[in-house]
Amino acid sequence: MFAVVLVGGFGTRLRPLTEYTPKQMLPICGVPMIEWVVSHLADHGVQEVGLALGYRPDAFLNAYPNGEIAGIPYRIAVEAEALGTAGAIRFAAQEMQLEETFLVLNGDVLTDLDVSALVEFHSQHEAEATIALQTVSDPSRFGVVTTADSGQVEEFIEKPTLGKSPSNSINAGTYVINRSVVDRIPEGRPVSVERETFPEMADARTLYAMESNTYWLDTGTPEQFLQANLDVLQGRRKNRPDLPRASIQATAEVEESVIGTGSHIDAGAIVKRSVLFNDCHICHGATIIDSVLSDGVYVGEGTRLEGCVIGSNQRIEAGATLIGENKPES
Ligand code: GDD
Ligand code: MG
Repeated sequence: MFAVVLVGGFGTRLRPLTEYTPKQMLPICGVPMIEWVVSHLADHGVQEVGLALGYRPDAFLNAYPNGEIAGIPYRIAVEAEALGTAGAIRFAAQEMQLEETFLVLNGDVLTDLDVSALVEFHSQHEAEATIALQTVSDPSRFGVVTTADSGQVEEFIEKPTLGKSPSNSINAGTYVINRSVVDRIPEGRPVSVERETFPEMADARTLYAMESNTYWLDTGTPEQFLQANLDVLQGRRKNRPDLPRASIQATAEVEESVIGTGSHIDAGAIVKRSVLFNDCHICHGATIIDSVLSDGVYVGEGTRLEGCVIGSNQRIEAGATLIGENKPES
């Protein structure tokens, strides 16, 4: 089966990490997010993927110049301007000449979803499209879904007002879509699959949903990005690639953290619940907590960083205290 992965967002909430890098190229324990997504699809028999994007196609083409991501061939569809989630699906289906049922994924979701079971559910129910559901405690940031016992979607409401959500089942961002869905999407303007196409299909009674409560995380914010790294580290994911090696002085204190290749942590430094990309240098006596440091960040002696997101090649001078700050690339 073919899978279209939507990777066209700007990753605004993850700036400065996404200033020059698309969200899906950020490393989760040293492996770019897109590789996690694609290798999971490969485990479920997906043979080819299409990346639907507009922003920074070169980042993918440069990283995967031989036409494969995680051993799976890929193609790209580049939108001249953002077409919205449904517009992007339509554009990719046309560019890639998709004529059969295919998968669509939000590219910023990490999950152990049983994609094969979703495909099976879709064909058993003779649905026009089937979406995976996840149960969450606060559904207001998501697409909320109510279903009949048959699995038929009765209502799809994108981002309902706080406290007005009719259920705690949310759209988990993985869909099986028949080719006929593409013809429902109007051309020539941005269209949201969540705000237009799915509600229309719910009314037409052709949309189905499958409950799945497995590992699931939307990685859109710095806190969630940190969590995605810690979840791998702490064994909450099914598969885990080889983690990068770093040099950590025996007397440095490192807890629940991911340290990228070539990063050095000097003796007497403390790093907790943080992610350091490659080639960072943390000097003696520095303390880093709940923070994400991009490539090549230098943190001087005795510095304290807490809840910070630091862009690549920044120098944080000795003795500084930064709490909850974002620093751009330098
Ligand atoms: N190609 C392309 N073009 N991709 C886009 C565009 C576009 O115009 N707009 C958004 N995307 C991509 C994003 O890169 C992301 O991978 C995916 O579509 C979803 O967009 P987000 O901006 O991350 O949406 P969200 O997180 O607020 O909500 C979506 O995901 C939730 C689950 O995480 C919705 O699908 C919700 O219904 C869902 O619950
Ligand atoms: Mg998202």
